Order: sequence, then C-alpha cells, then structure tokens
Amino acid sequence: MLRNVLPRVPGWLGKYCLEKSHLASTVPSDSHHPFIPMKICCVGAGYVGGPTMSMIARKAPDIQVTVVDLNERRIAAWNSDVLPVYEPGLDEVVREARGRNLFFSTDVKGAIAEADIVFVSVNTPTKTYGVGAGRAADLRYIESVARTIAEVAKTPKIIVEKSTIPVRTASTIQEILAAYPGTAKCQVLSNPEFLAEGTAIADLEKPDRVLIGGERTPEGEAAIETLASVYGRWVPRERIITTNLWSSELSKLVANAFLAQRISSINAISALCEATEADVDEVANAIGKDSRIGPKFLKASVGFGGSCFQKDVLNLVYLCEHFGLPEVATYWEGVIKINDWQKRRFAAKIVRSLFNTVADKRIAVLGFAFKKDTNDTRESAAINVCRDLLTEHANVVVYDPKVPADEIIADVCGRGVSPNPRLSVAKTAYEACAGAHAIAIVTEWDEFKTLDYEKIYAGMPKPAFLFDGRNITDLAKLRAIGFRARGIGK
Ligand code: NAD
Ligand code: UDX
Repeated sequence: MLRNVLPRVPGWLGKYCLEKSHLASTVPSDSHHPFIPMKICCVGAGYVGGPTMSMIARKAPDIQVTVVDLNERRIAAWNSDVLPVYEPGLDEVVREARGRNLFFSTDVKGAIAEADIVFVSVNTPTKTYGVGAGRAADLRYIESVARTIAEVAKTPKIIVEKSTIPVRTASTIQEILAAYPGTAKCQVLSNPEFLAEGTAIADLEKPDRVLIGGERTPEGEAAIETLASVYGRWVPRERIITTNLWSSELSKLVANAFLAQRISSINAISALCEATEADVDEVANAIGKDSRIGPKFLKASVGFGGSCFQKDVLNLVYLCEHFGLPEVATYWEGVIKINDWQKRRFAAKIVRSLFNTVADKRIAVLGFAFKKDTNDTRESAAINVCRDLLTEHANVVVYDPKVPADEIIADVCGRGVSPNPRLSVAKTAYEACAGAHAIAIVTEWDEFKTLDYEKIYAGMPKPAFLFDGRNITDLAKLRAIGFRARGIGK
C-alpha cells in the first residue's frame, strides 16, 4: 500500500524537500520514516478560500487543511449546515472532508504557525480612497496577512498568493517577511485561482490549468515542486504550468481582462444588431465557429458583473498608467466603459419602451445574483438596473432564488441607510410578476426559462412588456402570447 504523504521535517523547503516530494506518492506506509502529515492553512474563508481548500482536503485526505478567517460569522457558517457560499456540489465536498482533514477556524495565528504551506486568499478590492482610488487594488488585507505570517512563522513555510494581486506583489510580501527579526525563511509563490462562481467545484475538479509562479532558484523550484505535488494528486502534470513569479501574477489579470473584453465586444455588437435587425446570437454563433475565435464567452447580456472582472481590469488599467503606458490603459478602460454603458442602456430601453415613463409602474426584476447558480451579488448588473429604475420612480419588485431580501435591499440602497420604499423583494417569480407592467430578466437562472408565461401574462396590465437581459427565453413564443418582448441584440 502506498502512502500519499509529504515529509514534514526541518529544512524541507530545500533540496531535501525537492527530492522527497518526487517520492510523495511512493512512500510505503509501513516504512519507519517519521512522516507527519503536511499541514496547509488558508487565510480567507471566502468564495475562493472555502471551495479551493475543500477540494484539496477531498483529494488529499492525508493533508490537514485549516481555513481561517477573522470573520466569526463566516467561520461559524462554514462549520454549520448552511454554508456561507452557495455553489452546486460544494455541500457534498465539505461534508466529506470537514472534521476529517478539513477545519474552519478563527485562530489565524495558530493555524499559520503550524502550517507548512500558507495560502493567502483574502479580498483585494478596488481602492476607494487616496492614490489610485477607483482603480488600484487595495492591498491592505494582503499586507496585514504578510505581517501576521512574519510575526508567527518560526518554521520554514511556503507562502502562496491565491488572491488576485497586482504584478510584483510577491516582492512586497518578501520584504515584509525579511523585515521581521526571527521570521523563518519562507518561499513566496504565486498560484492564482481561475475558478468561476457557479461552476467552482467542476472547475476545481478539472481545471484547464494550474499556474504556479516562483523564484527560479533551487529553493524556489523546490517550493514550486512541493505545491505542484499537492495539485498533482488529481490534476494531470501537463496541466500544471510553472513560470516565474511575475508572469504568474500578471497572467491572472490578463486572463480576466481577455474574458471581460470578449463580453464587452459582443455587447458592443449587440447594440449594432438592435439598430440593424441582425441577431446577436446568430452573429456570435457564426463568428464562434471560427476556431481562432471559439464559441465561449460570446453571450451578449445586460453586462458582466462579479467581484473579479471590473476590479481586475481596473487594476490592469492602473498598472499600465503607473508604468507610463497611457495608450494601453485607455485600450483596456474601454472594456469597462462599454460594460457600464450596456447596463445603463438596458434600463433606459425599459423606460423608453414603457412610453418614456415608469413612474409608479411595477417592474418585476427576475434575478439579482451576478450570474446563475451563485448567491454572490458583487457588481451585479441588477444593482444598476434597479437603481436606474428607482431613479425614474418605478416600483421595483425583485425575485432571486438564492439571494436573501436584506442583501438585495442593502446592495441597491446602501448599507445602514433607510431602504427606498419603492423597492421590495418577492418570494417567487410569480409573486414578483403579478400586476407588473414589465418584467426584466437580469440573471439567467434556469427556472426563468420554464415559467408559465401565459399565466403571468394574464395577471399583467396591458400592454405587457418583457425585457430579457440574458436571451434565455423564446421571444417568438412570448410574442405569440401577447407580450411586447425584447432581448439583447435582437
Ligand atoms: P471574499 O471577500 O469572499 O473572502 C475574503 C475573506 O478574507 C473574507 O472572509 C475576509 O474576512 C477574509 N480576510 C480579510 N483579511 C483577513 C485577515 N487579515 N485575516 C483573516 N481573514 C481575512 O473574497 P473571494 O471572492 O474569496 O476572493 C479572494 C481573492 O481571490 C480576491 O483577490 C479575488 O480577486 C480572488 N479571486 C476571486 C474569485 C471569485 O470567483 N470570487 C476567483 C478567482 C480569484
Ligand atoms: C471570472 C472568471 O471567469 C474566472 O476565471 C475568474 O477566476 C474569476 O472571474 P466569475 O466572475 O465567477 O469568474 O464568472 P464568469 O462566468 O466569468 O462570469 C462573469 C460575468 O460575465 C457574469 O456576470 C456573467 O453573467 C457574464 N458573462 C459571462 C456574460 O455576460 N457573457 C458571457 O458570455 C459570459
């Protein structure tokens, strides 16, 4: 019988570790070597830290994985039956590993002190103050974790940047670690996460690639190899790409920028389709058949949302400005400008179609999450659409199958301020649509494809409007029922 463990001995970051990690899956369990299970700690129990570490714990039952966070409520939820993150398949993975080799805790220092590998998976939001406000990444959480590691690291560790960060952040972490007397020697690696919400478990199970950047020194290579051997438990070796630190850090921002750019490109074309009677889905299909373009990420929509695209493209813009490349910065900023415009355009089309006034009209907004199969609302297009309609004095009724009512109200109206009385939240799509002058589909939840639209139509004042911001419904069928139905780019 073979034992899937890595040796945990002093100096294991060195050549010894490199040699042993090659042996990771071939050590006989009955050998007399004093093997102690590897310990992994992940700082940040969010949408990335939680699912990513759960998958490592599932695939490597011999590695002890502890996910820590300062947020007590979040940790309590990870330890409960109602996880703080909704992801298809996540409950099952957590249930399998939790209490066995997967733990959630608020003891940040204790878990870091014991760990061999420390993943840093804290939030890196767009800065809202000072230099770079609205563009640069706010690195205060990264720095705070780096200082905590420096304080408590008395044994060598591999520090892994899992958060998305600006290129060259690893050197900041290295500098902080070097500045604390008594900190053990640590290697810093970049290992950006490419999972998408809603498909996180499938993405983690079968990633297109795992990217690991490190220093091209013997110690750096050894650290890369150790981390690669963790993923190597289930990811084919040819999918584990290794690069220098800076290429890895930059690749994450560039990957998200390219993906966002495709959506803004097709959304820009959707406006031209509306002006010319071309159909954006037909255009996307026609161009996507070209293998050089490919079919993915060409779905026109009300605009992209999520915690990553806008933040990361803005970060790229800021970096280009910082490095004296204003033309490059302007090019990428266009991706965000088109997205903002697309969100405004959708709300404006509703107002225009409803005879230029939605004042006191009931508008049902179906979907609030930034995409289907997640409860995440960060940067969701629904927030902008609701705000624009409320500004026009519409009575907005939102329904989303996974987002709680208080979250919807706080996102639209702001936290700690009195809610707008024109905004309400319904418990079902039917309740939201009853008596509505118009329906706006903003998230592509599957259940919106199969609603009984005849029944809904019967309960609406006429003319009854439907605006499909995701092109998931059959507009011809809706028109046959009597709806004035409009899609995006059609
Ligand atoms: P999140 O906000 O859901 O979670 C971050 C967690 O870090 C929070 O729970 C917060 O309390 C915790 N935290 C912050 N400072 C801490 C500290 N000093 N000690 C302990 N805990 C601390 O964020 P997320 O969506 O998981 O994203 C994390 C990082 O991963 C970001 O850089 C993001 O850009 C990147 N990323 C996100 C996704 C995604 O789909 N959400 C995908 C790829 C990469
Ligand atoms: C994205 C990246 O895909 C992922 O690799 C990275 O790790 C984090 O950022 P995420 O934001 O979770 O993932 O979801 P994604 O599927 O990329 O969707 C982002 C937004 O774009 C959503 O609002 C989605 O509805 C929208 N979108 C996506 C479109 O409008 N059209 C498309 O064709 C694809």
